[in-house]
Amino acid sequence: MSLVSTGELVAEARDAGHGVAAFNVITLEHAEAVALGAERAGLPAILQISENAVRFHGGRLAPIAAASAAVARASTARLSLHLDHVTDVDLLRASHAEGFSSVMFDASKLTYDENVKTTADAVRWGHERGIWVEAELGRVGGKEGEAPLDAHAPGVRTDPAEAAAYVAGTGVDALAVAVGSSHAMTERTAALDHELIGSLAAAVPVPLVLHGSSGVPDEEIRRAIAAGMVKINVGTALNTAFTGEVRGYLAAHTTGVDPRKYLAPAREAMAGTVTGFLGLLK
Ligand code: G3H
Ligand code: ZN
Repeated sequence: MSLVSTGELVAEARDAGHGVAAFNVITLEHAEAVALGAERAGLPAILQISENAVRFHGGRLAPIAAASAAVARASTARLSLHLDHVTDVDLLRASHAEGFSSVMFDASKLTYDENVKTTADAVRWGHERGIWVEAELGRVGGKEGEAPLDAHAPGVRTDPAEAAAYVAGTGVDALAVAVGSSHAMTERTAALDHELIGSLAAAVPVPLVLHGSSGVPDEEIRRAIAAGMVKINVGTALNTAFTGEVRGYLAAHTTGVDPRKYLAPAREAMAGTVTGFLGLLK
């Protein structure tokens, strides 16, 4: 009943001074858990499918996108569909036919000038089709199994003046920034640079996005939202919950073969994680 657009969820959250959470979907159970957690919290959420998740599904976007959209339509929670960390232009272009209202185009590994040029092209393409486009400046580490970056190394953290020029030069709708978080952390020990978040929020006219939020403690997320962060991306925390349940079940039931026996508690654990993060956003 309620597949909505990412742009409206982010705008609403920003206007209210709140955050909105985006959760990575790998399997159908992830999407169902996000819907369940959002329904229980009485809050909207973003279902995001990464380029890596598409690769896991054999490079086919349609099946997992259609399943996620169907979960959203059947949910009483307002949910949107977002394509995350896209580096492949063919995948970007495929998003339109599959019902995505938003994409994150990730050219952060390129030089500044190349990042601006390729992202501006992606934004032009997206806006012609009504697609909301997020992009990244600075380097949030820990992608695709890479070692966490030194968050203090030059060029890693996002510079406010460069961010303002980047947003003006690309026309992006939201900006993912490097402020001390890193992807794929299984412990919530990241310390964010709140002064930098405040400076970035003052410097750019678009909402800010925090990637790698699984490794960020509750209070740090609350403070980040208070300083101007709006979209809060969470992935690994769902997988930690999922895998913990599966591992526990299989260790205790060495002859069981029915996947529903461990996928049901795994999905329930992810829903609990979703509700926990949603509780931090106001
Ligand atoms: O774009 C996705 C997020 O940045 C997820 O990061 O898996 O570290 O929570 P995470
Ligand atoms: Zn990310």
